[in-house]
Amino acid sequence: MALEEVYRAAEAANQAKTEFLANMSHELRTPLHGILSFAAFGIKKAQTASREDLYQYFQKIERSGKSLLVLINDLLDLAKLESGRATYDFSTIDLRLVLLTVADELSPLAAQKNIRMAMPPAGTTPPVVADETKIAQVARNLLSNAIKFSPEGSLIEIEAGTEGSRVWVRVCDRGVGIPEGELEAIFDKFIQSSKTRTGAGGTGLGLAICREILAGHKGRIWASNRPGGGSVFTFEMPIDPRTAPKDPDIAPAVAAAACRSDDAGQPAGSRPLDLPPCPEARLDIAEV
Ligand SMILES: Nc1ncnc2c1ncn2[C@@H]1O[C@H](COP(=O)(O)OP(=O)(O)O)[C@@H](O)[C@H]1O
Ligand SMILES: [Mg+2]
Repeated sequence: MALEEVYRAAEAANQAKTEFLANMSHELRTPLHGILSFAAFGIKKAQTASREDLYQYFQKIERSGKSLLVLINDLLDLAKLESGRATYDFSTIDLRLVLLTVADELSPLAAQKNIRMAMPPAGTTPPVVADETKIAQVARNLLSNAIKFSPEGSLIEIEAGTEGSRVWVRVCDRGVGIPEGELEAIFDKFIQSSKTRTGAGGTGLGLAICREILAGHKGRIWASNRPGGGSVFTFEMPIDPRTAPKDPDIAPAVAAAACRSDDAGQPAGSRPLDLPPCPEARLDIAEV
């Protein structure tokens, strides 16, 4: 029985690696191919092409180069975080301001799909000790995922709050959601949910990076499904990770029954983090 389980785990790991390599070579090859072919065009037509055409070649080269850089940075970040070599630059930050800044940065992306983002009101979180750049990276991935997987014209709600000596943030969208059996697996590197595995998506590294970053803050991150449709990503961490115990007696549970999908991920005997219910996704929101 145990041997069978080991075998199944090895098979699953192997399958994930195969999928990753297929996805990865696609992700690497597409932009690289774009760079090389538009550079070749430019060389061949340098004397004859119009300025406008040449401008467009350079634009395409730049765009492809940027997307390659994102991919390579994600790979390097994850490798560093996993090896334990990442350094955390802790300082006192305004968590809400970090969320606002990231939302602002992503607003052109949201605007393309006519998506609105509702931010937490001022005063919802106290000053928090954290690595600002890394927490911004978490927020950037959660918000860009929410935008990527949400329908046109929908609303993304970003909420934050405090529970005892810990703070929490959650991103509620009304997109495609996540199959119940995959709520944990999507945090594994290279894994994409069966609902979004289109071959054209990203590499599945973002959530793995988020989980490592939260662990570095003695915090946690998890996903759940939203009543009415969509998904909810919540992270929580101590207000000051430097003085917080390593393993707090608190579970990363979505305590609100309305949000709860299952009890997976809750350490036995620990007190659930008491979050208010997340707003139910309403169908009329899209029409507003
Ligand atoms: N807001 C969301 N709604 C639905 N599925 C999501 C959402 N966020 C993440 N996922 C699922 O989790 C997978 C992994 O996300 P992530 O690690 O950020 O990788 P990537 O964005 O590169 O695909 C996504 O491919 C998708 O299947
Ligand atoms: Mg992502």
